[in-house]
Amino acid sequence: MLFRTRQRIKHRVKELIFDNAGFQEMLELRDRHRLEDAMGFRGQFDEHRRFQIAFLREQGLVPSSRFLEIGCGPLTAGIPVIEYLETGNYVGIDVRSSVLDLAWKEVGKAGLAVKNPRLIRSSSFGSPELGAQTFDFILSFSVLYHLNDDILKNYFETVRNRLAPTGVCFANVNTLHESSTWLEFPFLRRTIEVYKNLAAENGLTTDRLGDLDKHGFRLSGAESRNELLSFRIR
Ligand SMILES: C[S@@+](CC[C@H](N)C(=O)[O-])C[C@H]1O[C@@H](n2cnc3c(N)ncnc32)[C@H](O)[C@@H]1O
Repeated sequence: MLFRTRQRIKHRVKELIFDNAGFQEMLELRDRHRLEDAMGFRGQFDEHRRFQIAFLREQGLVPSSRFLEIGCGPLTAGIPVIEYLETGNYVGIDVRSSVLDLAWKEVGKAGLAVKNPRLIRSSSFGSPELGAQTFDFILSFSVLYHLNDDILKNYFETVRNRLAPTGVCFANVNTLHESSTWLEFPFLRRTIEVYKNLAAENGLTTDRLGDLDKHGFRLSGAESRNELLSFRIR
């Protein structure tokens, strides 16, 4: 009995230290930095999330849309998209298992297991995992400039095969900022023509939608000058 009382007091003292030293805030900040490092933009997570779901809804996303996110990262867009869509309509693909581990945590924190999202770790954009599945919307945000030329070719083949006949794929690209690297990936500057030609080779038309800031992106960093493209089956 005395042992249990001692244990309870010890636990309570630990809780008081934890609360008063602001450990909870520190843990939350550490989690936030992990997420931001996984999506590549320190201090920009909330705006990237807000922008992507607002843009998708502006482009006609409805709860019954079947949605594929290629390069879903830690579900920056994924969480509000999963929340908005009907159960079972979200599939996210990423090449890194570490980022999908974070993504699953986010699903749990948001209480979204009930929506049955599917997350796939793949270096072949979900082939063969997705079988013959097609989608109304495909999104790749801050992804295409991290794909080398060979992978980009596979990307457009995938988009052609995964789009439903009236479906649409959205992606932003970098035409201005010098090429460099990010983590294990390249960061590439390409002209719009490069994307247009590769899309055309795979039977897709490209529309130029303008820069992110034209669509209401609220930050002034380099990505606000990324151009948004859409791809549809010809
Ligand atoms: C800059 S992050 C953006 C993540 C997310 N779209 C967002 O808006 O936060 C780029 C993501 O693309 C993923 N990626 C890079 N190459 C990929 C590939 N070949 N297949 C699938 N995902 C890839 C990376 O692992 C990373 O999570």
